[in-house]
Amino acid sequence: MFELKSSFIRPTWLFLLLFLFPLSSSEAQPSLKQKTIPAHRAADFIHAVIETDRTIYSQYIVERLGETVSLKASENWKKANTLPLPAQFLNMSSKIVNSKNLGIKYRLISLWPINKKNASKTREEKEGLKKVALNPNQPHVWTIRKSGQVHFNAVYPDLAVTKSCIRCHNAHPKSPKRDFKRNDVMGGIHISFPISRMGKVSPKNDLTVAPEVVADYVHAILEADRTVYAKYIVNRLQKKNIIYASENWWEENTLLLPAQFLLNASDLIKNMRLGLDYKLVSLWPINPHNGAANKFERNGLESVASRPLRPYIGTLQIGNQSYFQAIYPDIAVTPACVTCHNAHPKSPKRDFKLFDVIGGIVVSVPTKSN
Ligand code: HEC
Ligand code: HEC
Repeated sequence: MFELKSSFIRPTWLFLLLFLFPLSSSEAQPSLKQKTIPAHRAADFIHAVIETDRTIYSQYIVERLGETVSLKASENWKKANTLPLPAQFLNMSSKIVNSKNLGIKYRLISLWPINKKNASKTREEKEGLKKVALNPNQPHVWTIRKSGQVHFNAVYPDLAVTKSCIRCHNAHPKSPKRDFKRNDVMGGIHISFPISRMGKVSPKNDLTVAPEVVADYVHAILEADRTVYAKYIVNRLQKKNIIYASENWWEENTLLLPAQFLLNASDLIKNMRLGLDYKLVSLWPINPHNGAANKFERNGLESVASRPLRPYIGTLQIGNQSYFQAIYPDIAVTPACVTCHNAHPKSPKRDFKLFDVIGGIVVSVPTKSN
């Protein structure tokens, strides 16, 4: 190609250049400049989302409310008007995610399961559980071929993050192990998803996932956890007058608002320094801090409010790092969303209905050029 120095660029050339190479280079050369995410990074992102929500639920809900207001977590939570166990919370949302047929699947497993259904099902799963019990700093990963498609698999350690984890497991009549200690590996989270390419570019870049697919996975987990929390914790327990969700949840020993659940988990994710980020925004924010921060977010919110079936996407460049961004609609999935927002003194909109779009979830995933 011809070499150009800026002083030589004449208006006609400039016109030609702009015509031949539209401003966004990724649009001009999709095959060369396609951004991807290495599969092991994608698994780290997915695991981080599952783990941080699991931590918030275990620490800020189960452990705290058990100690302060004696609200228990128990297996028969529906009948007993208690909180679902952390494992049940994860199982409920993994069922929602698995049923969406996005490709991603995950579940909680253990070498010492209270429920035999949570035992490892394959040799690799068992191997993974043994490996992460010995070295919790690294996931165990492998690939398998299933009906012509290659699937990336990873087992991450599941740690006893609170006292209640070990107290309950050590005392449970069906637990095959009774000497768990704080921070022990109690089991693992097995994550599996299809990968788009194998053995084409260079060995290091073999296993990749498209950023829009990773954003879909991250969003599906966030949305499922958000739905489980809003429906089976907040809405159910409020309706039964057992406990409420309130902004001053810490002082008042109440449930976190669904928005606070998401935002606290998002802070934990930021602290993990993976580059992954997500937040809640709205055109009608109760907290002005959650308004659209820029044109992309405003356009995205307007777009998902009128067309909630598809996310609004874009890219962002900060220094050397590029990000893929997607805005998904945030929907009033339970009556509690609607009543609280419509009644809140600071809410600029008071006619939300069930299943309306209240705002959006902005997911940003770091990408690299391939
Ligand atoms: C109040 C009791 C209780 C608490 C608290 C609790 N668990 Fe469990 N856990 C259970 C029960 C019961 C199951 C089986 C649930 C099922 O039927 O799938 C289970 C399932 C699990 C499993 C899947 C393997 C198995 O044992 O079936 C793992 C791993 C696990 N819990 C880890 C933890 C961790 C980590 C924590 C703390 C964050 C925790 N648990 C808190 C009771 C508890
Ligand atoms: C008990 C009251 C309450 C419930 C229930 C509730 N919210 Fe909110 N929501 C709030 C408050 C208060 C904020 C502002 C939180 C903050 O300061 O960041 C908020 C924030 C939000 C935001 C960010 C924009 C804004 O308004 O600040 C969205 C989007 C949102 N909620 C959607 C939902 C959805 C969807 C549900 C149901 C799944 C829900 N909310 C349930 C009170 C509630």
